[in-house]
This record gives sequence, C-alpha cells and structure tokens, in this order.
Amino acid sequence: MERIQKILARAGIASRREAERMVIEGRVAVNGKVVDQLGFKADPLKDHIKVDGKRLIRTEPNITLLLNKPKGYLSTVKDPAGRSTVMDLLKGVKWRVYPLGRLDFDAEGLLLLTNDGDLTYHLSHPKFSVSRTYWAKVEGVPEKKELMRLKKGVRLEDGEAKVVSTHILRQMEKHSWVEAVVTEGRNHLVKRIFSAIGHPVLKLKRVGFGPIRLGNLPVGQLRSLTDEEMEDLKKLIAHRMKDNRRETIDERRGTKNVGEAK
Ligand code: URA
Repeated sequence: MERIQKILARAGIASRREAERMVIEGRVAVNGKVVDQLGFKADPLKDHIKVDGKRLIRTEPNITLLLNKPKGYLSTVKDPAGRSTVMDLLKGVKWRVYPLGRLDFDAEGLLLLTNDGDLTYHLSHPKFSVSRTYWAKVEGVPEKKELMRLKKGVRLEDGEAKVVSTHILRQMEKHSWVEAVVTEGRNHLVKRIFSAIGHPVLKLKRVGFGPIRLGNLPVGQLRSLTDEEMEDLKKLIAHRMKDNRRETIDERRGTKNVGEAK
C-alpha cells in the first residue's frame, strides 16, 4: 500500500506536489470513491484509481523476478518489528515489485516478485490451483502408508488438506528429505500436513511454482524470468481459466461429478 499522491507521482502524471494538489482538489477516485485525504493509502496493483475521471495508466513495464529467498527473511514488504524482509534483497531493482504469495521466515527457496497485478491474482487465487513444489526435511522417515494419507487428505484445523504427489528424496537414520506438491498457499500448510502424520518439518525449501523451477540459483540471488518462463505461466493461466469456465458451466447445468478428479 502506498500513499495516493506517491502512486500518482510514480505513474508519471504529475510531480509529487502537483499530485498532492490533485488529491486535495478531489480529482482522484479510488474504487469509485473520491479520495481527498493525503494520508489515504491504496494498492496500485489492485485498486482502481481514476484521475479526472480517467483510469490511471501505469507507466512501468511488467516485471517478474525470481528470488532464492534465504532463511531469516520475511516475504512481506515491511515488518513492524523491524525484521529483515525480502525487499532488503532487491537493491538495484528499479521497479517496485511485490512478493507473490508467502514463504515462512524460516523457509527458503523460490519466491516470485512482480508488479503485475493480473499475474499475482491468477497465480495466487485458490481457484486456479497452481502447484507449489517443496522439499521438506522431516523428522524420521515417513512410511508409504503415511504418505498415502497425505494424498488422501489430512484434517487440519482450517479444513482438509492434501498433496498432489509426494515421495522420499533421501533417507537418513533420523530424518529424511521428502518432496511434496500442493496446490494451495494456506499458511504453514506443508509444516502442518507433515506434523499431522507425525513427521514435523525441520527445514523447508520451495523448488517449484507452477512451471517455474528454482534450479541452481544461489541463495539470496535474484533473476528475471525468461520469456519462455513467462510464456509457460501465461499458458498455465489460460488453461486454468478454461478449466474454471468449463466447471462453472457444468455446475450451472448440474452435470459436474461430485469428487471428480481434475
Ligand atoms: N508451507 C509451509 O509450511 N511454509 C511455507 O512457507 C510454505 C508452505
């Protein structure tokens, strides 16, 4: 969230001083309501902002970055408690980007950052079921039947959760590394599902988000998504939108099979 006059200034329509005057004069509306207070904050990616009745056109190009988030960083823009956030790792990035989804403070790995509001919406909305691939170091070695439980679904305090797939990557005497693919971004989901089967997570790393892979990007490093990766994301979104439209039509017609696999 940013102060409205700052958003206008950054969009290149006026200097900060002029932007302040525009706000005070009541020429700015956010989501259909006139805003004449300089303290008002809006989200330039999500809110519908108009100046003199015209939609604010962003002048920035859309950019999407991939960060290998280290442990010990919050994936938020600011922390009231003053802890480090991923924004501290963006030195030299010219455009304002926002984390797409969350990774726990003590987790590491793939985090996308973007200023593309549509991309954020489609990749994070639960109805688009974008897969997230994690490698979790867990206590002990889960048995086959325990991993089966994860596939069938375990009960958590905020509802059932399941993995799309899971398998052991490496097993040691007292712990193991397990891959798990989930399609939602609920808080601490991977930690909670492994705790539910009696194998608490000791370390967590995200290695995939939809078609994007972390690869060998060093911890703490950033890179832009390639054109090919952006194409892959767009294809995925187009597919999911089609699936959703089909489901809505089926639901309206009453032809959707309950429990049908997607
Ligand atoms: N699941 C978790 O438990 N933590 C994360 O950061 C992401 C998924």
